[in-house]
Amino acid sequence: MIRYQEKTNIFQLDTLTTSYVMGIADGSYLGHIYYGKKLQPQDLGYLLRTQEHPQTPSKLPREKMSFLDSFPMEYSFSGTGDFRESCIDIRDIHGQSGLELLYRGHRIYHGKDGLQGLPAVWGEGCQTLEITLEDTCAGIRVRLSYSVFEDSDALIRSVKVENTGTEAVYLERVLSACLEMDDEEYEMLSLPGAWARERHIKRQPLLSGSFVTESVRGESSHQDHPFLAAVSHNCTQTCGDVYAMHFVYSGNFLAKAQRTQFDTLRMVMGIHPDRFCWKLEPGAAFQAPEAVLVYSDAGLGKMSRTLHDLYRNHLIRSSYKEKERPVLINNWEATYFDFDTEKLIAIAKESAALGIEMLVMDDGWFGHRDSDDSSLGDWVVYEKKLPGGLKYLVDEVNRLGMKFGIWFEPEMISPDSRLYEAHPDWAFHLKGRTPSRARDQLVLDLSRPEVVDYVYDSISRVLHSANIEYVKWDMNRALADIGSVALPPDQQGELSHRYMLAVYELQERLITEFPDLLLENCSSGGARFDPGMLYYSPQIWCSDDTDAVERLSIQEGTALVYPLSSMGAHISDCPNHITGRITPFETRSHVALAGSFGYELDITKIPEAERQMISGQVAMYHAYNDLVREGDYYRIASYQENHRFDAWAVASKDKGEVLVTYVQVLAEPNKRSRKIRLQGFDEDALYRLEGTEQVYSGEMLLYGGFLVEPMKGDFVSRLYHFVRM
Ligand code: GLA
Repeated sequence: MIRYQEKTNIFQLDTLTTSYVMGIADGSYLGHIYYGKKLQPQDLGYLLRTQEHPQTPSKLPREKMSFLDSFPMEYSFSGTGDFRESCIDIRDIHGQSGLELLYRGHRIYHGKDGLQGLPAVWGEGCQTLEITLEDTCAGIRVRLSYSVFEDSDALIRSVKVENTGTEAVYLERVLSACLEMDDEEYEMLSLPGAWARERHIKRQPLLSGSFVTESVRGESSHQDHPFLAAVSHNCTQTCGDVYAMHFVYSGNFLAKAQRTQFDTLRMVMGIHPDRFCWKLEPGAAFQAPEAVLVYSDAGLGKMSRTLHDLYRNHLIRSSYKEKERPVLINNWEATYFDFDTEKLIAIAKESAALGIEMLVMDDGWFGHRDSDDSSLGDWVVYEKKLPGGLKYLVDEVNRLGMKFGIWFEPEMISPDSRLYEAHPDWAFHLKGRTPSRARDQLVLDLSRPEVVDYVYDSISRVLHSANIEYVKWDMNRALADIGSVALPPDQQGELSHRYMLAVYELQERLITEFPDLLLENCSSGGARFDPGMLYYSPQIWCSDDTDAVERLSIQEGTALVYPLSSMGAHISDCPNHITGRITPFETRSHVALAGSFGYELDITKIPEAERQMISGQVAMYHAYNDLVREGDYYRIASYQENHRFDAWAVASKDKGEVLVTYVQVLAEPNKRSRKIRLQGFDEDALYRLEGTEQVYSGEMLLYGGFLVEPMKGDFVSRLYHFVRM
């Protein structure tokens, strides 16, 4: 519900349990007043502190700069007196910058417009407020957009900038959201990582200066994640304040929290301004991506569930959105590049017999690719490995009752490829400089429409050539040497964003032409796991690290902000290929159950005892997947925090059943059973623990706790399924 009180010039946006309030000072300056627990509409204008020194410019013109530098700007601008973090910067053709954005008007409407060329939250039961700010001197108009859904606690923001002048301007910075808070000594929570260690939850105080999490790698990255939350000291899974921002974008980003001289906090999020410069011709507009804001008064758990529901109901679009995903087996860790039709069919035969539903052929099926140093760009079947072609292989796999999926890395080009021979200038490169290779590959200049068309036609041709029902879209290097022969010098700063727009366009074309395709994004593991990609693919490969213990932390961090159904999680072979660790096959299955389940091993070579467990695991996935995919997620214990055990639960929306997963990472000698307080239960109901005669009341489990029996061994796990009686 969105209201504007004309008398007080106050906007109030209500979600299910929160309110977001803005006001206009001096008839001109849009200020942030309040974000928090839901309030009755009332005059909160005093919180803008315009009665204090420095008063507004109309009352105290001689101190206008002090006003600009202390007022809680709803969308901050720079160069005219606000020295804090700015959301927008321009440079005109005379080389000058500086803006003063003043309120011009607003409109409130039902629904929410899409964002051209960009991923965006969508759906019914929604209202949008669009506020127009303007700087007539610079010829810049800014439209701030805020949407709220009836069924969600999230607030969706975006920004559009128009050139209303008569000369071109250069947009050097345009962030998507700003949030002003009085600093109550919040801690910063972010999700940094590395390859094979993606999205580990980190929390630290911000005593002074700034906290930054960012990517300038051309992808949302392994190293940082486009998410930032300010949380109160006392914040846990179940209590405390959380102010979260999540960016619906997959390229360079900046998320920054700045503690000011007055101990206020300004949090901003948007496209990273480094190497960004967008030329805006007169009359042209630039659409910045969306940011999702969530306030929770009940800790991190409530924030997670808000984001999960928003993404499941209003971001993911796939026809698999509400469907079980087929249990897949991927040959990457099984064979790497060393496979052929015969080997794949042998894997498929064994898999089909055990109930696995789809074979995914990973990297190495095209060009003359025997290792990672060739053929990217040549999307034609490697006949030496696949004699008889793709259709023969796919038909054979289909005949076994399995679906077939395939791997692509469409954005890349190998210097050793026919494509590179024909079009060396299609790779990003800086004039006069040999571009840096990574994994021996270069990045295609997707700012060129002919390159985009080539890539699309290559994929589409392959998908038409056989019954392919799944695509793993990989991206295995960051962007560097970003230069294009196709753009004029004053537009080279547009390349990183143009690249992202092209990736989005390619994936949009793909899912439009093949609406039933199951698309899984991937980027050297989880370097492009972000809300932007979720708009195109309902699941994303979490990490190349499939070690069950490492996955606990990766999946805990990922599930903090993403629904479990979006996390690609597979059971792989041991010793694990990355860590060398040996974990029980059962534990690996319990950990993978928290995601879109599959296998990543040579099923023809694993020990017989493990092979025999597979059909049971597939049945377990089918038994619990509706719950895991659609339920509410509760984090019970964190191995990252306690270094001994991990536990999480998924409860059906009606609390009729709850599945608890417990992993004992390290055995502790001479201990009694461990009591853990569970979450997700109806406190007035009785539950039976499946497989036993044991009955518990919801309140016992919530407040008294559940006793996990003492277990011998490291890395052992248990599943507990409670059903309401
Ligand atoms: C990336 C992916 C892996 C695999 C390889 C293939 O690293 O994350 O799953 O597909 O590429 O080269």
